[in-house]
Amino acid sequence: MDIIDDPVQYQQQALAWRGEGLTHGFVPTMGALHAGHFRLVEEARRRVDRVSVSLFVNPRQFGPGEDLDKYPRAFERDAEGCRTRGVDVLFAPTPAAMYPEGFQSHVTVERLTAPLCGAARPGHFQGVTTVVMKLFMLAQPSVAFFGWKDAQQFLVLRRMVTDLAIPVEMVGVETVREADGLAMSSRNAYLSPEERAAAPLIYRGLSAARAAFAAGERNTAVLTGLVRQAIESSPLFQLEYADCRSLSELEPLTVSEPGNTLLAVAARLGTTRLIDNIRL
Ligand code: PAF
Repeated sequence: MDIIDDPVQYQQQALAWRGEGLTHGFVPTMGALHAGHFRLVEEARRRVDRVSVSLFVNPRQFGPGEDLDKYPRAFERDAEGCRTRGVDVLFAPTPAAMYPEGFQSHVTVERLTAPLCGAARPGHFQGVTTVVMKLFMLAQPSVAFFGWKDAQQFLVLRRMVTDLAIPVEMVGVETVREADGLAMSSRNAYLSPEERAAAPLIYRGLSAARAAFAAGERNTAVLTGLVRQAIESSPLFQLEYADCRSLSELEPLTVSEPGNTLLAVAARLGTTRLIDNIRL
C-alpha cells in the first residue's frame, strides 16, 4: 500500500489507473477507522480493481466549539487496517495541502442540507460537499462508498453528484453496529463507561419504531414518539431530534411512506453527539 500526502501525486496515480482502464473505488474517511469504515473498504475491494482511502479530518465541516481538536486520530492503526484489507493507496493530506492560501471556493447543496443535522450544525454540509468534491476531483473514482449511518450526508452527496453530473457511482453501505445495536462511530470513543451503557437506547428506540411500522403503524408522531421515549428513559441523554422525513427530499412526513421514509435521530450523551437512523 502506498501512502500519499501530496494531492497532485494522488491525482496522478488516479489518472494512471484510469489510463490503464482500471476501475477505482474510493472510500473517503476522517480516520479513527472502525468496522463500519472497513465494511466500505471490503465492499470496494469486492467491486473494483483499485481501492483508495482518504484520511483527512476536514476542519471545514466542524463548527466553532465542535470537536475538531479532540477528534480521534490513530494514523498508524488506520494505515495498518487499510494495508491488511488490501487498500492500494491511502491518501492522507494536510489541511494546508487541501486548502492552500487563498482558497475560496465552495459547493452548496441547498434544500437537502436545511433540516436535521444541517439545522443543528450550520455550515457543516457545505464543508462536507466542498471537501468531497475536491477529493473526487483528485481521486477521479469510478465508484465511491459511504455509510448509511450518515444518511443525510449520503443523500446530500448523491444529489451533488447528480446535479453536477459527476461521473461517480455512489454506493451506500448499511450501518455496522456493535453487538448491543449501537451504530459504529469514531465518536463512540468519547463515551464514558456509563454513557456507553446508555448509548444502545438509540437503536432500541429505532427498533421499537421499526416493529411498530411492521405492525402497520404509519403515524410518524407515534413512530418518533417511540424513539423519544426510549432515549428519554435515560437522564444522560439530551435528544436533539427524532424526525421522519422523505428519503427523496427530506421533507417532513406526518404519514410514513413505505420505501420513502427516513427516521433519523440525533442525541447528545454528555458532550458527545450521536446520530443514527433507519429507513422504512
Ligand atoms: O463521513 C465522513 O467521515 C466525512 O464527512 C467525509 C465524507 C469523509 C468528508 O470529510
